[in-house]
Amino acid sequence: MFLHQISQIIVTKTTAIMPMINMKKNVLSRHRRYSLHKTVFDWFTHNQKKLPWRSETPDPYIVLLSEIMLQQTQTSRIAEKLPHFLHQFPTLQSLAQASNKQIILAWQGMGYNNRALRLRDCAKIIVENYHGVIPDDVETLRTLPGIGAYTASAIASFAYFHNVPVVDVNIRRIFSRLLHKVTNNHDTISEKESWEIAMKLLPDNQGHIWHQALMDIGSLFCTARLPRCLECPLSSDCQSAFTIIESKKTAKPEPLHRSVPHRIWRGKIIELLRKSPNHSEDEKTILHALFQENQTNIDIDFLHFILQKLELNNLIELNKSPHAIIVSLKE
Ligand code: ADE
Repeated sequence: MFLHQISQIIVTKTTAIMPMINMKKNVLSRHRRYSLHKTVFDWFTHNQKKLPWRSETPDPYIVLLSEIMLQQTQTSRIAEKLPHFLHQFPTLQSLAQASNKQIILAWQGMGYNNRALRLRDCAKIIVENYHGVIPDDVETLRTLPGIGAYTASAIASFAYFHNVPVVDVNIRRIFSRLLHKVTNNHDTISEKESWEIAMKLLPDNQGHIWHQALMDIGSLFCTARLPRCLECPLSSDCQSAFTIIESKKTAKPEPLHRSVPHRIWRGKIIELLRKSPNHSEDEKTILHALFQENQTNIDIDFLHFILQKLELNNLIELNKSPHAIIVSLKE
């Protein structure tokens, strides 16, 4: 036997015992992987959600839009809003040319308005630096505005079928419960461990189906509050099935005014301007719309503070005349 043949055998043997090691450490034997894949693929074949951005021949522009929109907004809301947005901006080129005002008006109902500007900036960079072709590799995608680790891998996987791991909150929650004995609904493994598991569980060539199936299972059964283990296709394989109890989560600390988060006040002001004639209002009208008759000096100072922030973020323009401050959506 030639030396290179022996070394090949050694390499083959080493990889062959890897699953045994994994089984002990992470309860991920080859058999378990196979069984999880089969259960999930079978379920998805018959039960997948029909969503406007899903297709056997996906359009990368639609996948980019939907993934940015879905970052902080519910699937059902985006399924409703996406067709309207596409009607207004049918191509990446048209989006790249949108003014701040046009894109903020089109973003109505999706919240977190800064995302809209980042999406437009992202489209602009793709048109200017990548000949209008949305990059297909995770590293390049990650350099674009508004695209983090999840979104980059989702676009590479769902738009281009690259077999890369994808981890969002739903998938992280499933991995946490499936592979560890969890009793509290908020307990999750670390982000790092989630990506490691995603890599280990990645099925050959089928990552795009696997991850979208997990997202559906996460949103339908393995929900953040109380999971529906009785109906979940994974419950017979799950370490935490029927053991999870719902506990109250302490609210994420964020700045408040009158017990309402600043981001909600920001959203209210932008929504008011969307609906106003000329998308413009004077400061007094805004104060009245927000606080009615019982305004205090603290409310006035707070409004000035929020308006400055919105101006800094390029969402609004402030025009100061001797008698009033006029607030407008930025052109
Ligand atoms: N949430 C984020 N991306 C999604 C997708 N592609 N399908 C379903 N839910 C999602």
